Amino acid sequence: MSDKPGLHLETLAISHGYDPQSGQGAAKPPIYATSTFVYRSAQQAKDIHEAYFDGPDTDGARRMASEPQAYIYGRLGHPNLTMVEARLCALDGGEDSAVFNSGMSAITVTLMTFVRPGDTIVHSRPIYGGTDNFLHNVLPEFGVSPFGFDDGLSEASIQDALDRATANGPVGVIWLESPANPTAAIVDIALVSRLSRALEIKQGRKPVIVVDNTFLGPLLQSPLAEGADLCMTSLTKYCAGHSDLLAGGVSGPADLIARIKTMRTLKGAHLDAQTAWLLLRSFETLPLRTERACSNALKIASYLRDHPKVAGVTYLGFRSDPAAVALMARQSRGTGSTFSVRLKGGEAECFRFLDRLQVMRLAVSLGGTETLICHSATTTHYNVSKASREAAGITDASMRLSVGLEHPDDLIADLEQALEAV
Ligand SMILES: Cc1ncc(COP(=O)(O)O)c(C=O)c1O
Repeated sequence: MSDKPGLHLETLAISHGYDPQSGQGAAKPPIYATSTFVYRSAQQAKDIHEAYFDGPDTDGARRMASEPQAYIYGRLGHPNLTMVEARLCALDGGEDSAVFNSGMSAITVTLMTFVRPGDTIVHSRPIYGGTDNFLHNVLPEFGVSPFGFDDGLSEASIQDALDRATANGPVGVIWLESPANPTAAIVDIALVSRLSRALEIKQGRKPVIVVDNTFLGPLLQSPLAEGADLCMTSLTKYCAGHSDLLAGGVSGPADLIARIKTMRTLKGAHLDAQTAWLLLRSFETLPLRTERACSNALKIASYLRDHPKVAGVTYLGFRSDPAAVALMARQSRGTGSTFSVRLKGGEAECFRFLDRLQVMRLAVSLGGTETLICHSATTTHYNVSKASREAAGITDASMRLSVGLEHPDDLIADLEQALEAV
């Protein structure tokens, strides 16, 4: 779907996927507010269904080839979904994309597409709580077992998880999240891709490597170019970017995305026309928002690191171990704008600090125009045991910060006055 390979991501983000001639010349895409689509004739209805269900080599598909894209029913696909998928696909560098009504829909539908009872899944740690819950509490009830590894830079650590998994069944999916929050853990995607090729020979089936790219997004990291089979993103975060909608996306080779779309249709997890339109508009400013959020984040993280009441900051840009620095230089084009800060003290100190903030908003989620902050142990990780929280580096003094687009001096002044209360 990415038919303009010569253009930069910044240009593709603005206009790719919408041809004004398809919308009566409207500079911006119409919203197709319809649940179903009308056929010109009974033969055309048959051709459309034949092409959709029986593939590209049928008579129906041949007759459809010279016509504009045909739609059947909103849950199977609609014009605004096609536009937003084309744009995401161009940004992710895939052959096709599937867009969903949330990141979790994208995650669960993708996993249900590629694993079967008796399979295993290997995953990096830590991963987003919803993904972790699905892997560890839901999929085992369907006969699928998860096996995690902690060090995504270590061949031995990844291979150990692959070996433990294979001893229990074929590996259907390798799920990676890089970078992960709140530890800023990173995974060498190319290394996992190399190890998976040996596994493919051993088990006679290729595990599908999926990377959750939510924390950096398509402007700062391209997992498909590193050897991932699929790139998954919670579009709710940076891509939508205004904390006003939920969406998710998966990009990759056309054959894998076709299988995911079939499962999406059965689950009814597609994105609706109005939200797809809003998301398409949000993509236009993603490059500028990414740039500003990253430059603000560096300033805020540097201020916090040097503050006497701060015990630590997990900002990716402060990682100094040579292996991580080398990997980031090869795999990513920036260090993002979501990180954790740990105060000296505990919950009481954090609550005093949070209740004094005037510019930053106290909320979960990330990637919006506004700066958001939350106390991890009592919000995003409320349901996680203290032992597991601490294993993931989350103490009672940890807070997650998603730096927005405000003037950095105002953000620093807000932090300064709130830290005085601690
Ligand atoms: C890394 C990551 N992946 C996936 C998700 C799930 O996305 P959504 O909330 O859009 O369902 C989130 C949500 O916070 C996330 O942070």
